[in-house]
Amino acid sequence: MSDPLPRPPITLLVFSASLRAGSLNTRLAELAAVTVEANGGEVDRGSMREFDVPSFDQDVLDRDGFPAGAVEFRAQLERCDGFVIAAPEYNASMPGLLKNAVDWVSRYRPQPFNEKYGLLLSASPSMVGGNRGLWALRVPFEHLGARIYPDMFSLAQAHTAFTDEGRIADPRLQERFDTNIVNFMNAVEASKHYPCAKRAWVEYLGERPEPATDRVE
Ligand SMILES: Cc1cc2nc3c(=O)[nH]c(=O)nc-3n(C[C@H](O)[C@H](O)[C@H](O)COP(=O)(O)O)c2cc1C
Repeated sequence: MSDPLPRPPITLLVFSASLRAGSLNTRLAELAAVTVEANGGEVDRGSMREFDVPSFDQDVLDRDGFPAGAVEFRAQLERCDGFVIAAPEYNASMPGLLKNAVDWVSRYRPQPFNEKYGLLLSASPSMVGGNRGLWALRVPFEHLGARIYPDMFSLAQAHTAFTDEGRIADPRLQERFDTNIVNFMNAVEASKHYPCAKRAWVEYLGERPEPATDRVE
């Protein structure tokens, strides 16, 4: 069989929403990054440290403008065709620091998450792998018009799930992870390079370009 055609270029911003040095989500984000690269994509590795911002305050925005973390987050989003986030679950929801950073960036116009493709991952020592946090995270992203990929990946018992090389020890789970990443990459590629597929996605969501409902607010 001949080699598959090279993938047309796509760039994904990949980051973990944990600041912790030994973060399980940072390990999962790195596995996502190397998997994207192994499948012909380019990766911008972001970090929550760069995107760190003070608590959102409209008065600060009006007086001082955007804080450095929001400037950086927006700039990295603008450079990419899609994003992959590995986010911890805190108290059955998303981490406050990530929501706070999203709130800041959502005040830019044009609003950078609109029509951006996103894939959500999580890792947790628990049996459900932080999956409730991802469902919570979908809500603000979808509100902002991000195309959040339907399949999400949550790594349960993550404190024992990785090999020393940073892969997932269970081969079936590792295969499922790879498939999830590649399927997401295919969706991003289609959106960027084959506009007819993008139109099909928008119509699938029941949305048509319409100034009155464009997600600018
Ligand atoms: C404030 C807080 C709340 C947490 N709530 C949950 C939770 O609801 N569900 C869960 O699975 N783990 C929860 N955990 C445990 C985290 O999943 C665990 O600390 C995980 O390792 C954090 O991700 P990280 O390793 O990427 O930093 C919580 C941890 C903290 C610090």
